[in-house]
Amino acid sequence: MTDPMESQSELPEKQPTDTIRFSISLKSSLLAEFDKKSMENGTYDNRSEAIRDLIRAYLVKEEWKANEEVVGAIILLYDHDELEDLTRIQHGYHRNIQSTMHIHLDETKCVEVAFTRGTAQEIQELVDKLKGVAKHVDLAITSTGKNF
Ligand code: NI
Ligand code: NI
Repeated sequence: MTDPMESQSELPEKQPTDTIRFSISLKSSLLAEFDKKSMENGTYDNRSEAIRDLIRAYLVKEEWKANEEVVGAIILLYDHDELEDLTRIQHGYHRNIQSTMHIHLDETKCVEVAFTRGTAQEIQELVDKLKGVAKHVDLAITSTGKNF
């Protein structure tokens, strides 16, 4: 059997022509701790990829803070009785909701994911309104990817 990690590392590494190298200064104990934590569970096998992800995560948060056009996935857990109110709220944001996926968990409980796009403020407003009705609401934030 092939090790999935091994076959991945055999892929030719894409080197974008605008990639640069730079050095940063930091305490050696801080770097040692970062290397340990970022590599111990196999999430990363090199420091550059770990730092690139941190930078992207930071930029996503900044896009949300600056109320830019962003993308987010809202996950909702609710009782089927709450569907009508939730649908009414969602129709109010039909320009922001691009797609939804619904699963009937049991006789009465439902879970739904709504893929949204719009200003950070619009999406946050929608989340807050849904929280007023559903049993549990969470939001996963990302970017339109324009600067990535
Ligand atoms: Ni509808
Ligand atoms: Ni359902």
